Amino acid sequence: MCGIVGYIGDSNVEKVLMQGLDSLKYRGYDSAGVALYDNGNIKVFKAVGKLENLQNKLSALSDDEKRASMGIGHIRWATHGSATEVNAHPHLSMDGNIAIVHNGIIENYKELKGELEAKGYVFKSQTDTEVVAYLIGDEYKKVGNLKVAVQHIIPRLKGAYALCIMCKDEGGKIVVVRKNAPLVIGIGNGENIVASDIPAIISTTSNIVYLNDDEVAVVKKDSVEIEDLNGNKIPLNIQKMSIEMDAISKMGYKHYMLKEIYEQPNIVRNLLCGRITNVNTPISLDEVKISRDALKQLSRVQIIACGTSLHAGQIGRYLIEDLVGVATEVEPASEYIYRKNTTDKNSLVIAISQSGETADTITAVRQAREKGAYIIVITNRPDSNITRYADSILNVNAGIEVSVAATKSYTAQLLTLYLFAIYFAEVKGVSLDRLPSIKEELVSIPVKMEEVLSSDADIEKKAEALSKYQNFVYIGRGVNLPTAMEGALKLKEISYINANAYPAGELKHGPIALLDENMPVVSVLIPGHISYDKTISNCEEARARGAKLITITSSDDKELEKLFDVIIRIPVVSDMLSPLLAVIPFQLLAYHISNFLGKDVDQPRNLAKSVTVE
Ligand code: AGP
Repeated sequence: MCGIVGYIGDSNVEKVLMQGLDSLKYRGYDSAGVALYDNGNIKVFKAVGKLENLQNKLSALSDDEKRASMGIGHIRWATHGSATEVNAHPHLSMDGNIAIVHNGIIENYKELKGELEAKGYVFKSQTDTEVVAYLIGDEYKKVGNLKVAVQHIIPRLKGAYALCIMCKDEGGKIVVVRKNAPLVIGIGNGENIVASDIPAIISTTSNIVYLNDDEVAVVKKDSVEIEDLNGNKIPLNIQKMSIEMDAISKMGYKHYMLKEIYEQPNIVRNLLCGRITNVNTPISLDEVKISRDALKQLSRVQIIACGTSLHAGQIGRYLIEDLVGVATEVEPASEYIYRKNTTDKNSLVIAISQSGETADTITAVRQAREKGAYIIVITNRPDSNITRYADSILNVNAGIEVSVAATKSYTAQLLTLYLFAIYFAEVKGVSLDRLPSIKEELVSIPVKMEEVLSSDADIEKKAEALSKYQNFVYIGRGVNLPTAMEGALKLKEISYINANAYPAGELKHGPIALLDENMPVVSVLIPGHISYDKTISNCEEARARGAKLITITSSDDKELEKLFDVIIRIPVVSDMLSPLLAVIPFQLLAYHISNFLGKDVDQPRNLAKSVTVE
């Protein structure tokens, strides 16, 4: 959600900013803008909609008109005020001396705006960001130094912010500051770049500095200096970035989503590497820092997440309750934070977030931490905000996920939950007779995932036939109810087709009224568990109402062909591990349907990759 880039150096400033913004598009946005500094002037260009609209505006300018020695850029996902040019960033102070871009939300902006209005300031936009620009402009008039003005106004801001600021009167420097919103500084050679996420930096440098909360950095062409709000110097901690360019390239795939679906077997392979050495040896999970004794004593687990991560958490609950026997609740973070919950120091809270920037999940973790719970964070971004509140961080190591629709991060989260549940059971000394065969099967999962992917062409054909339907019902039972929910979410997100998931047994308690020949029912059927026959019965009930039946199954029973119109077969797998395989056909179905319908697969409308507002 929103993206920031700032650049100072000898390269073409406009190009660096636009490339940087392009690499951040995946986070979701609905307007964009840049401010270019040239010889005591700040020129601002903005456009609503796709980045191409801004690019077209810039392309129409002469080289002279867009000449710049530094600049800041932004893509905005509207929160305060709709997606208009006036509301788009950068924003200027009322006298035009200061230009800023901002990620995050200033919670007390109304109060601050009122104060400024009382002083005679007149605002142009509805944004909280413009208030910050005016505030810095106001303070600058008093102190005549951009860094000091920023240091003075920061304590007045409540909320989350990553700010990138330029001043007409102070050429040659960009001032940046952050709190609870990501901001990274890329240290180049005779050039420096700042951004809200690493993809925008990767083509300039691999040396980076992570800014901590309320540290103010003065970024010049040849230097970066950091101070706290009191002016105390902070040493630069330059780190080597591990992410390769490949991670943010499509590598020949038509969309990032397809590339990311195909990356899953290798991600799982890498995650398993070194964890399961021998099926009879306890699993190695050194990142779990809670002492074995404390883990043994735990009587309760709470899993908190949103969206796809929540579905992974729901599967985690089945695993922990089945293998460890410890009561486990799963709750959307957005519900957890607004009720009187009973988390306490005896609770283990597992927060799952791909981005590590989801505001609801971060707030939930903070609240749980305040109540004394032990916090494990499962994330794909160990450098993200949420990890600040973690006692243990489990990095799912899926590599940067660019497509808004989560795929590879989901299977990586799942695998991490399988590993954790086994580890937990081993520490508790329970289910020990079952664990060797589960471990053995886990090791076979990457090859089986590859087998599922090898039927992609067949799934694509089936998807084409299904793309004419407007409504779907997804059903599942047990460990595959969350799989069905995830399948339905994927379809909704990227094809805008209505798909609702229900526990298969619930169909007859209401949703069955919806069914007719225009409403296909998609199920997951894994033999070897009582739920198999029960789910088939539920499908029969749907068929009796005229619904077309589609199933994803590991059964090779030919009889199924009599009942089902479409069968997608996956390799033989136990019920417990089946979510790792069954989700892939769901991802592919959603992908191909969206592609057939000509939708924007990687950047679906209204969605953002990381949702940084509650
Ligand atoms: C996934 O396809 C979605 N875009 C969305 O539901 C996502 O999973 C949710 O917003 C949570 O994000 P997080 O994992 O980064 O916290």
